[in-house]
Amino acid sequence: MSNGLRIAVVGAGIGVEHIKGYQELPELFAVKVLCDIRIEHAAAVAEKYGIQKVSASFDDVCRRPDIDVIDICTPPAFHPGQIETALKAGKHVICEKPLVGSVAAVDLVSRLASESGCQVMPIFQYRFGHGLQKLKYLVDQKLVGEAFVFNVDVAWWRDSEYYRNPWRGKRATELGGALLSQAIHAVDMVLYILGPAKSVFGRTTTRVNQIEVEDCVAIALEMADGSLGTISVTLGSLAEISRHRFTFRNVTAESNIQPYANSREPWAFSFNPAGNEKQMKDAVDQLAPLPERYAGQFYRFYQALRNGKELPVTLGDARAALEVIAATYYSSEKNEPVNLPIGPGHPKYETF
Ligand SMILES: NC(=O)c1ccc[n+]([C@@H]2O[C@H](COP(=O)([O-])OP(=O)(O)OC[C@H]3O[C@@H](n4cnc5c(N)ncnc54)[C@H](O)[C@@H]3O)[C@@H](O)[C@H]2O)c1
Repeated sequence: MSNGLRIAVVGAGIGVEHIKGYQELPELFAVKVLCDIRIEHAAAVAEKYGIQKVSASFDDVCRRPDIDVIDICTPPAFHPGQIETALKAGKHVICEKPLVGSVAAVDLVSRLASESGCQVMPIFQYRFGHGLQKLKYLVDQKLVGEAFVFNVDVAWWRDSEYYRNPWRGKRATELGGALLSQAIHAVDMVLYILGPAKSVFGRTTTRVNQIEVEDCVAIALEMADGSLGTISVTLGSLAEISRHRFTFRNVTAESNIQPYANSREPWAFSFNPAGNEKQMKDAVDQLAPLPERYAGQFYRFYQALRNGKELPVTLGDARAALEVIAATYYSSEKNEPVNLPIGPGHPKYETF
């Protein structure tokens, strides 16, 4: 691993999945330190995954000279402060979603990253499923024609047991609800395929659990390309599904409905036999699969960092998703459509 990146994972909840992702790519990454305020839990996880060092102190980890990247997997309210500390220590940062809790906060992270000369990559690992990657490739090859409509369902189940974890379900610590915490991936998948949103009309409500944040959401969007779409979200669905369906002039693309893997195969592609069907089939057949999920995002991160290219998920991507979310919250509060972009001066720029 002569040119590999040395990683500190912070937070041993979902952080365990990150560790597994790095360990799928041993030529590219070595997890050197696991940091968690629950030091005994960290020690048990570190032993299981062969990580040499554990620490309960984020600041100490940032001071270590043998670390290149700090990977933040702590609850959302910790992200802004930890990103800032890591950047000021001269470390690259990978950070779980939601990166931060407002559009203003992501703009601040962008400024801090520029000043530090280090990179910050938000996590959106669902992007890298092979089904969604096929559609992305067809879009990038300009084969799909105009976009007409998209439909998205995020129908998941969360009960009171899930909300026993004290940071969840509270505005101060989770920062938002089903839209910010769960459906942010689904929003990102739409923006990844279709580009920016132009206007948003949304409704949010809390009906499933006794929590401070929303657990049911309905959104109607107009995209900058003129296409229209809907996203519906609930955390009260006994039968869990996720579904993305994109209708373009030359192809209808529909995901599988596995709730936590719908960007992966299989996807159903219906091509127009009177159009460019053969060209599209050939393009999809040529696409060489890269790793998926966390390993897929980390693999692309490594290539981008080493080759000086754009990261596979940028701060602009996190901003775009947070803008749609801020607009939905505002629309729901005011009962009016909201035009994007959201910048300084908008009532939802500073906080949700
Ligand atoms: N991308 C995804 O699919 C995905 C899935 C689950 C969670 N997440 C995100 O990951 C983040 C963590 O969620 P989780 O479910 O793992 O939460 P969790 O509560 O299960 O785990 C968080 C861990 O961080 C530790 N921790 C808390 N504060 C800390 C601090 N200041 N320094 C060091 N360690 C600290 C806790 O002790 C705990 O072990 C959240 O932002 C969440 O939204 C993303």
